[in-house]
Formats: sequence, C-alpha cells, structure tokens
Amino acid sequence: MIPQVLLGIETSCDDTAAAVIIDGKLASSVISSQLEHVEFGGVVPEIASRAHERLLVSVVETALRDANVSKGDLSGLTVTSGPGLIGSLMVGVSFTKALSVGLGIPFLGVNHLEGHIASLYLSEDLSDPTPPYPHLCLIVSGGHTQLMKVEGPGKYAIMGSTRDDAAGEAFDKVGKILGLPYPAGPKIDALAKTGNKTFHSFPRTRLKGYDTSFSGIKTSMLYFLNALEEVERNELIANSLPDLCASFQEAVVDMLISPIKKAVRETGIRHIGLVGGVSANTRLREKLAELMNSMGGQMYVPDFRFCMDNAAMIAMAGYQRMQVGQASDLSLTADPSMKLQ
Ligand code: KG4
Ligand code: ZN
Repeated sequence: MIPQVLLGIETSCDDTAAAVIIDGKLASSVISSQLEHVEFGGVVPEIASRAHERLLVSVVETALRDANVSKGDLSGLTVTSGPGLIGSLMVGVSFTKALSVGLGIPFLGVNHLEGHIASLYLSEDLSDPTPPYPHLCLIVSGGHTQLMKVEGPGKYAIMGSTRDDAAGEAFDKVGKILGLPYPAGPKIDALAKTGNKTFHSFPRTRLKGYDTSFSGIKTSMLYFLNALEEVERNELIANSLPDLCASFQEAVVDMLISPIKKAVRETGIRHIGLVGGVSANTRLREKLAELMNSMGGQMYVPDFRFCMDNAAMIAMAGYQRMQVGQASDLSLTADPSMKLQ
C-alpha cells in the first residue's frame, strides 16, 4: 500500500525538525533551531547531536498534534540520511528506524539536497504553480551551491558546483569578518537594503562551464579591510556597514546568476527553481526574476519558511519516492557525504 500519511524528520545540521504530509499536502511543519551555537559563531557538531537527541521526541509530538494525527495514523516515515554532520544524522536515522519497527510501517532515507529540490512542490494549497519537468534548479545554502538539471522526482544531473566555499558559507564568513552574528546571511540581506551596492566593487570570479567559487570574495573583503588602519577600519564598519553588505551581496548574486544565464541559453530550459537557505535572499530573488523575465522564462522559489532547513521538504521528497514504491531497510546508515543519485 502506498503510504499517504507521512512523517518527515530532518536532523542533518543544527535544526531539529519534523513535518507531516497527508495525501501530498502539508499538514504540519515544526522546526526547533538550536540557539546553542550562536556564541561559537558556527555550528558545533557535538552540541548539535546532543541537542537533536534532547529535542526530537517533543518536535515529533508537536508535528503530529499540529497535523491532528496520532502515531497510529502514520503509514510511512522519511528521514534525512545525508549529507550532513554524522552525529546529527545518526540521531534522526536511528530514531526513524526504531519508530518504523515499533509501528510496523515502511521508512525511506532521503538526501537532504533532494529535500531542498522538493521544497518547490510544498504547499498547503495544491493549486500553487510548481515547476514542470525538466527544470533547472540552483541549490544554494550554507553547505552547497549546485546547479542541477531536474528531469523528474529523483532524476538529476549536476551541471555545476562550487569549487570551494558554498555561497551561504561566504555570507556567514564575511558576516563574521564584519562582526555580525551567525548565521549572517539574513542580516547581510537586511542591512544591504539601505546600502549602496556600488560603494566598493568586489571582483567576480568567473569559471568555465557552470562552476562557481566564493573563497576569493571572502579574501577580497579581508584584504580591503586589512589595508586600513584599525581606527579607520572600525570607523568604516561603523559608518558604512550597509554599503559593505550591499556591495558584497551584489557580487555574490552576480556570480550565482551568471552560470544560470548560460545554462538557460544553452539548454533552452526556461523554468528555474531557487532553493536552500540563500534562496531567501531578496536581491538574488529580484535579479533572477529579472533575468527570467528578460529571457521569457519563469522562476520558482519556495515559501520563505521552506528555504532554510526544514522537515516538510524531506517529507515531500520521501512522498514522491514512496509513491513509486521505494523504501529503505534496516541496513540504512547515516552518510555524511551522501551524493545525489
Ligand atoms: O539551507 P540552510 O538552512 O542550511 C544548509 O543546508 O546549509 O541554509 C543556511 C544558509 C546560511 O549560510 C545562511 O546564512 C544562509 O543560508 N541564508 C541567507 C539568507 N537566509 C539564510 N543568505 C543570504 N540571504 C538570506 N536572506
Ligand atoms: Zn539545507
């Protein structure tokens, strides 16, 4: 029997999340973001796995209650089995396997990136437009920057990837240099709104094909600031933080947009999805929408609450695969460097 009441679980990094999908429609989504990491300026893996263990049961109970279902109503389970932090993934995978045995229902391990791609199909309203197949999809988060060609659920080709830092990582690292708390992406986005994007021209790294690179821009910000005396530097940050943020953000957005333009031109595919934490970025959405308008295409973005890590996207990716009879068995293990296949 095809499972229709699905519980999704996501514990790959520092968000403990659970969601319920009923007949392909989102019924609940609960995310508990771990604030324990803020004082360290990044995610501490050991703290993350301990926090998942402490939080997961109550997050799952809340997701079931919000969806008005009980454990006995569930007909399938899906869980992120990679990529991510090994300890964090293991909490979700072990929990899911135990629950599956206890309830006697099937379960499926899902790739976190496939979850982000599936976030475009998440909605409480099934009439919202979703991208047709094939479409292009830019996955852009704290851990990944990949341009994909998506032929169907679970059918992908990687067209290009970052050679070094992910775009979200660049936002977070540059934010740290500027004295902003982790994760800095949303703060840089907000500050950039009142800033001058031509205040400083950061170099744009362009590579052959569809690959990207973001380590240069971080170094470039560092050199730009270190060339100043300490007093001058502090003054610049105090007086021109929005301008620095806007100039940096504009360069990152340009570097993300440029391979998409090439891909649309070369593949003729005019539907593009933008997913992952950085897809919440206002300027990236604005510039990609402009580009697609000018090329006669269409951009698709998830609801803001499904850009950052969540379990609804994991439930949706699992739902799509379970519809065609896929399931994992108890030999499933957490795979921190799991590839899309
Ligand atoms: O997808 P996600 O929640 O986790 C990963 O799988 O990495 O993405 C988190 C990343 C962080 O690097 C965060 O700074 C970035 O997404 N981010 C943003 C924005 N919102 C989140 N970056 C730029 N602009 C935003 N509005
Ligand atoms: Zn993610």
